[in-house]
Amino acid sequence: STVDKGEFRHFMMKEIYEQPEVVKATLQGRISEKHLLEQAFGSDATAAFDQADHVQIIACGTSFHAGLVAKYWLEDMAGIPCAIEVASEYRYRKHVIPAKTLFVTISQSGETADTLAALRAVKGKVLASLAICNVPGSSLVRESDLCLMTNAGPEIGVASTKAFTTQLVALLMLSIALARRHGLTEAKEAELVQALHQLPVLLLAAVKLNKDIEVLSQDFAEKNHALFLGRGPLYPIAMEGALKLKEISYIHAEAYPAGELKHGPLALVDKEMPVIAVAPNNALLDKLKANLQEVKARGGELFVFAGADHIQPEEGLKVEQMPDVPEILEPIVYTIPLQLLSYHVAVLKGTDVDQPRNLAKSVTVE
Ligand code: G6P
Repeated sequence: STVDKGEFRHFMMKEIYEQPEVVKATLQGRISEKHLLEQAFGSDATAAFDQADHVQIIACGTSFHAGLVAKYWLEDMAGIPCAIEVASEYRYRKHVIPAKTLFVTISQSGETADTLAALRAVKGKVLASLAICNVPGSSLVRESDLCLMTNAGPEIGVASTKAFTTQLVALLMLSIALARRHGLTEAKEAELVQALHQLPVLLLAAVKLNKDIEVLSQDFAEKNHALFLGRGPLYPIAMEGALKLKEISYIHAEAYPAGELKHGPLALVDKEMPVIAVAPNNALLDKLKANLQEVKARGGELFVFAGADHIQPEEGLKVEQMPDVPEILEPIVYTIPLQLLSYHVAVLKGTDVDQPRNLAKSVTVE
């Protein structure tokens, strides 16, 4: 069936707005009121999950950023080691694969050449392979032992949006499945699952910041550089925000874990380089605030996405207030304003939002 833009000017915006709904589809039939329904991973998954004591994640691009978040979740919740690497590196080196490795690939298309090659390189050397993928019947799904479909529906915009947030949901479900075997209590599982039930509504609240963020985007259209900061699982979200801005607005952007500022990027801070921080109200907020002060003290212009009333706006510091969200959902919900920001900056710059120059939706050749 053909997909059209409906009332939207670009597929990217349509896909951003679809996120509350497609996340619901990703969760559909996979959680009960308080439990993960593990059958979602297929009947062969049980044995693999029982035995796995190491996870290796492989992906490219935006999918790689989803995997980076999963490393925080898996090591925190399941307490099992998780390694993650981009496919183009992994496929061309010798690796040490610990016994009982669950090999997880993440891909929107299921056709990314490097990701497929990495999977083929470990055939017979891993406990099981699991594909987290958005395209049923794709090569990656066919060649993996297990799969969990993300159910985001066709994604047309080259810059990935709804595929990313649904990958995060899938990875959160995987983390719960593995954590169950490593001391996750029923009460904790219920808390995580109840948080997941709230996710569509929270995503809707985040999408509603669209108009505010459109206004904010005016401060970026004339800039040539931007720096994104985050800590913990919000660091990969900062990376994803930087990637989105690069891809569609052609503004050079990079992301740093906020604690690394003083080891280099502070030297770049001035009025010409806006600094964007994702700053939910979690245990790392005070640390992050100290990092923001370091930026302020050097005359940097700050744009902070923060929970209610935790950071006050001041001269040189704009705050966009986010809905309060359960900590486990922060990476997913805080992705939305960064998608919206890159979109509006790109529109102001007049770029081809859905088909940015030099990029392809699916990289099926090396
Ligand atoms: C291309 C796309 C990105 C995507 C990456 C990985 O670079 O432009 O949006 O994240 O490939 O694609 P995959 O289909 O494997 O997730």
